[in-house]
Amino acid sequence: MIPETAILWEFLSFAVRWLHVITAIAWIGSSFYFIALDLGLQKAPDLPKGAHGEEWQVHGGGFYHIRKYLVAPERMPEHLTWFKWESYATWLSGAALLMVTYWAGANLYLIEPAKADLAIWQAILISGGSLAVGWLIYDGLCKSPLGNRPTVLMLLLFAALVAMGWAYDQIFTGRAALLHLGAFTATIMTANVFLIIMPNQRIVVADLKAGRAADPKYGKIAKLRSTHNNYLTLPVIFLMLSNHYPLAFASQYNWLIAALIFLMGVTIRHFFNTMHARKGYQWWTWAVTTMLFIGVMWLASLGVNQDSYDEAMARPLTPVEARFADAEGFEDASQAVIGRCSMCHAREPVWDGIRTAPKGVLLETPADIARAAHQIYVQAGLTDAMPPANITGMEDAERDAILRWFREVGPLGVAGL
Ligand code: HEC
Repeated sequence: MIPETAILWEFLSFAVRWLHVITAIAWIGSSFYFIALDLGLQKAPDLPKGAHGEEWQVHGGGFYHIRKYLVAPERMPEHLTWFKWESYATWLSGAALLMVTYWAGANLYLIEPAKADLAIWQAILISGGSLAVGWLIYDGLCKSPLGNRPTVLMLLLFAALVAMGWAYDQIFTGRAALLHLGAFTATIMTANVFLIIMPNQRIVVADLKAGRAADPKYGKIAKLRSTHNNYLTLPVIFLMLSNHYPLAFASQYNWLIAALIFLMGVTIRHFFNTMHARKGYQWWTWAVTTMLFIGVMWLASLGVNQDSYDEAMARPLTPVEARFADAEGFEDASQAVIGRCSMCHAREPVWDGIRTAPKGVLLETPADIARAAHQIYVQAGLTDAMPPANITGMEDAERDAILRWFREVGPLGVAGL
């Protein structure tokens, strides 16, 4: 028997997400390592020609003696390890995860008709296209005369990111808005590696091989881009995980929350950068970080994005969703879902301690339920992941009703496509 597409889909998402988290750990880990190494380099009397500094480290039962040649060593070393696939693999797996979650599940997670009533293809075009456009704008800014004024450039970049967060929130669901802002930033970071840092490094290596003196300007350009990447890392991680925190993504000021998170990323990195450069402990940065965080909590408390309820209801179902709404057993399954899930998964949840629908999943109206068929099937039919700890006392007969209903439509129910 052919396994159901819904289950295959679920495991595809599992595999891609796992890969993405692992590659991201590898990328961020090596990036943090090199930044700390770079900042900790010391002068020594016996440094060879061209060497800028050295550092001794101890790890895993041995001592490491690392030297940095700022432009290039005198001749090409025999073995040279490059660090690039950590970054590329993170971006590629992230793009795949974006497609699996937000493109295939566009109706549920990406499109919010009350904001912009996009067709699926339009939403996907904006989702993908905006990432590419972001890079073009950023790269243009860096290559303009502003490239020589790093602080002004950083401020402009910050303004552009905030504007982009706002723009995403005008058209996509709050959840997709923050995720896309993360993807937008992460695309800039990977493109920095792929289109700037690596090509420049290759020029220097070619010069070395040919016995030419390498131009120090290439290293300088790479350094600027790598500094941006350094300060963008922490906010990107928050944005990628933000879907667990409806108070952040589904609040009215989610784009301002994102702005404060970008600033928190800078203050936290500043503490560690200064410490690794052995310039002391800038404890004040934690006071600022805490104040920013309080600002985030305050903004989140100002109110959730109240979507227009009727408009969401009025949006027509896609043909596949309509099959779920028309299928035999829909009545029974909806009753189970409304009885056991809607207290939390509502536009205005009534469950104590839940202020906005968890992960943006709404299970309140028949249309909501038809749209979320696949998720309901996996979370409450095939498994008892939901309700959490079966806190609303869902009965086996109700789970069976969900299974019967979903299987009535068959393997078409791929993430709401
Ligand atoms: C007591 C409140 C509560 C009830 C009742 C509840 N949920 Fe949830 N649900 C949550 C929370 C909290 C999360 C977010 C978990 C997280 O952040 O990982 C969640 C997440 C989800 C998700 C998203 C899972 C993901 O990882 O993308 C789905 C789908 C879901 N619930 C479906 C249901 C269904 C179906 C029911 C009823 C059978 C239900 N929930 C009942 C609180 C609830």
